[in-house]
Amino acid sequence: MSDCSSSSNNNGYMRALVAACSLATACAFHSRTIPATTKVGTSALKVAVDPTVVTKKEFQDICGAEFDADSLQERLKATNLLYPKHVEVIEDIAPIAGAMVDEILLETGEKAWQPQDFLPDLSKEGWEDEVKEMRKMIAGVPDDVMVVLVGDMITEEALPTYQTLLNTFEGCDDPTGDTDSAWARWSRGWTSEENRHGDLLNKYLYLGGKCDMRNIEVTIQHLITNGFNPDARKDPYRGFVYTSFQERATKISHSNVGRLAGQYGDSKLRKICAQIAGDEGRHEKAYQTFCEEILKRDPDGLIMTFGDMMRGQIVMPAELMTDGKQQTLYDDFSAVAQNLGVYTAIDYADIIKHLVQRWDLENIEGLSSEAEKEREYICKLPERYRKLAERSMNKKKKVNEEDPKRSFSWIYGRSV
Ligand SMILES: [Fe+2]
Ligand SMILES: [Fe+2]
Repeated sequence: MSDCSSSSNNNGYMRALVAACSLATACAFHSRTIPATTKVGTSALKVAVDPTVVTKKEFQDICGAEFDADSLQERLKATNLLYPKHVEVIEDIAPIAGAMVDEILLETGEKAWQPQDFLPDLSKEGWEDEVKEMRKMIAGVPDDVMVVLVGDMITEEALPTYQTLLNTFEGCDDPTGDTDSAWARWSRGWTSEENRHGDLLNKYLYLGGKCDMRNIEVTIQHLITNGFNPDARKDPYRGFVYTSFQERATKISHSNVGRLAGQYGDSKLRKICAQIAGDEGRHEKAYQTFCEEILKRDPDGLIMTFGDMMRGQIVMPAELMTDGKQQTLYDDFSAVAQNLGVYTAIDYADIIKHLVQRWDLENIEGLSSEAEKEREYICKLPERYRKLAERSMNKKKKVNEEDPKRSFSWIYGRSV
């Protein structure tokens, strides 16, 4: 840092401020080592300002109050909690979250799979042939499968929204952005794995040359701008029930798209989708384990939360997607996914069934009378949902037979 220090002189306050500003820019990307006693937030200024020329009051006027690293950590903790009991449980299972980071998330860096492992290396001889081969394979994939693949890719590309969401769950947040707690490490590790999904699918679609990438990019930008509210209400219980459900749903969707791509001769795309589905499968396991641990500590709490969420609809993360043109874009995309059997109302019912079995809700005992009633309601749901799903799918089938065409800007307005 020595080359960034301004020399001390007596021109005082203003020069120190200017130096501090340029120092912040010049040193912004330097690697850092933070000793335990570092004064967080004011270190850059302190290097620039000679303490002998600035009074304490002047210093605090510029920087505000200063805290050492420990007291800052303490102050960054949320105190006005909406769910203090839930946070207590979450803190109690932090070691399990830590274990999930080590056991469930894959190693980062060299050993982890990367999008490039599935793509032609454009810096190597012969890449043109590889791209040609790729384009030959994807050419056989019909437009309706392409539309679902594009919708899935757009959903993945809105990852900033999901990381933001994860950090709203009380007790699991990452208040500094590099917090060394188990939950913050989980949040960043999970995001780093998810980041590969949109990246790989996006590049594959780009090189495949069948889609209107600009309209797809417009949709991604709109989706991130619009955000997404799964009604988690900052509650970690609601958050983890949601992610338990959602990771399984994305696993199903990616595997089915991969299976269809394989059937139409694109073995590369089949492998890509299978790899991504594998990630979702590991994530699903982790989130369901978190809920299982919550159940052990607060069965009433989790069951009441699960029941309440089941009375509403579990919304998909891309429901606010738009390309600025097609009013019914999300509904059309979902309808195509449903027609192809990629993700259907039956899958929705089956996911509820899976969660009921995974958390052994049939056999859970010792509940309060209110929670016991809720447990009975939840356990009957999969069957009830399945019947409704079958009925609604039959109805949709009829509507689709009458009006089978939907056009998508993502594929140059072609209809599927
Ligand atoms: Fe994903
Ligand atoms: Fe995922």
